[in-house]
Amino acid sequence: MVLIHTPKLDRNAPCWCGSGKKYKQCHMNFDDKIRQFERKGYEVPMHKLLKSPEDLDGIRESAKINIAVLDEVADQIRVGMTTQEIDRIVSELTAKMGGVPAPLNYEGFPKSVCTSRNSEVCHGIPSEDVVLADGDIINVDVSTIYKGYYSDSSRMFLLGNVAEETRRLVEVAKECVEVGIANTKPWTFLGDMGHAVHQHALDNRYSVVRQIGGHGCGFAFHEDPWVSYVSAPGSGMLMVPGLVFTIEPMVNMGGDEIYEDEENHWTIYTKDGKPSAQWEVEVAVTETGCEILCY
Ligand code: MF3
Ligand code: CO
Repeated sequence: MVLIHTPKLDRNAPCWCGSGKKYKQCHMNFDDKIRQFERKGYEVPMHKLLKSPEDLDGIRESAKINIAVLDEVADQIRVGMTTQEIDRIVSELTAKMGGVPAPLNYEGFPKSVCTSRNSEVCHGIPSEDVVLADGDIINVDVSTIYKGYYSDSSRMFLLGNVAEETRRLVEVAKECVEVGIANTKPWTFLGDMGHAVHQHALDNRYSVVRQIGGHGCGFAFHEDPWVSYVSAPGSGMLMVPGLVFTIEPMVNMGGDEIYEDEENHWTIYTKDGKPSAQWEVEVAVTETGCEILCY
């Protein structure tokens, strides 16, 4: 994780980024700036995590599929449908658009999408046995591989008459992502962003899951950095242009404690059985802030 281990390039050598320009006319000042943070002991990104303009084009193409799939789920989801039907919608449209669902067979995950309902925090497995009922809330988490590039985003859906306090949870979880986006800017830290997200949840008397967070994304489904939403300012990786990661806080109505399903070893639930809500976007840090790649 330390750039200091990267050999210093000659000023006139071709830049490491592949632009074809001389280092001194390309990323030399950028690297010097990163080294200043590194010398002070901050965590900084390695070059291999940073996405070039061509890489970002590739991720945007993948993200188009991810967005289209979530739009299709939004169109079709309704009370009485099983979560297996959501899986079918996702796998069919992804394939039709030339993509591959990233969850399928990922570390043994058996389906093409995660569907997490009510007190399920994340990694719910679609099933013929789970029928969406009036008053349910559900997170549908879609991830796509297209020409080797990964996209990852999720949305919440409300089914029928959802209790007012539960609607509010879903709304605040979305606001938490918006706070994250507003605090994603270069030369500040992931910990600053995560702290702002956490504060927004706390202001609304909710809690945020600690053990599971966001992740770098693009060249792989899950890459560095790990992204916490219960973090201290100044902690975590320095954000620099070209860094791509997800903002996906899991916001609980009750306590932050969770447990894993003993049988499937995937699904995570709130310990107190109260609902949890999560929205996810994938963002790229830019010169001035961030670009939302998928939502
Ligand atoms: N999409 C989830 C995320 O946001 C990861 C799910 S892993 C899976 O990181 F295997 F369950 F799909
Ligand atoms: Co993710």
